[in-house]
Amino acid sequence: MIVAIDGPAGAGKSSVARALARRLNFRFLDTGAMYRAVTLAALQRQVPLDDSYALAELVRSLKLRLTDDEIWLDDTNISDLIRTPEVTRNIKHIADNLQVRAQLSALQRNIAEGGCIVTEGRDQGTAVFPQAECKIFLTASPEERARRRYEELRSRGTPLTYDDILAQQSERDQQDAERPVGGLRQAEDACVVVSDELTPAQVVDRMEEIVRERIALMKS
Ligand code: DC
Repeated sequence: MIVAIDGPAGAGKSSVARALARRLNFRFLDTGAMYRAVTLAALQRQVPLDDSYALAELVRSLKLRLTDDEIWLDDTNISDLIRTPEVTRNIKHIADNLQVRAQLSALQRNIAEGGCIVTEGRDQGTAVFPQAECKIFLTASPEERARRRYEELRSRGTPLTYDDILAQQSERDQQDAERPVGGLRQAEDACVVVSDELTPAQVVDRMEEIVRERIALMKS
């Protein structure tokens, strides 16, 4: 069974999707981490970000390993390194590259093969797994997403203001929405969860409810 969770940046997808996978005893796949890992590798190896052929070659040569909680490049755990502002700023070059998308989508399908998985990203229920048995579109208002991000960064001593974060987020939302292939869209058959008024635990509860209803329907 595939549970595909899509939604905009800052909707809290990764943490609630991971928690959902644990509750269901499914594997978990954070596809954003894959795009981040390719971006990090391109920056580290100084592959020109506007050279789509070189980027596609790079992806072919990468030894990426994903567990439910970590991502490894060759022998290095890059789980923290992929979350820097520099990686986030440059990710669009990787996410816009059609060959890279095709390769990462194939890798995602390989990983999902023959097991139960919760996968999260932007295009999981639309482009990568249109046949997924359960699709959830997890979203929250731009103001609430930026507020959460601001609180998180403030506790780590960020110099950024709430307005800076809202502006950066709007730019990412626009890039994600305008991407012609793999852009953020709500699948027609997705259940929408709006998390503004919900705690993370309530979001996981709601998503578990959706999945269990779906499983019951499949059995009947
Ligand atoms: O979920 P995230 O913020 O870690 O994702 C980082 C970027 O990767 C996001 O802005 C767009 C891209 N991405 C994508 O194009 N397709 C996916 N399935 C997941 C992420």
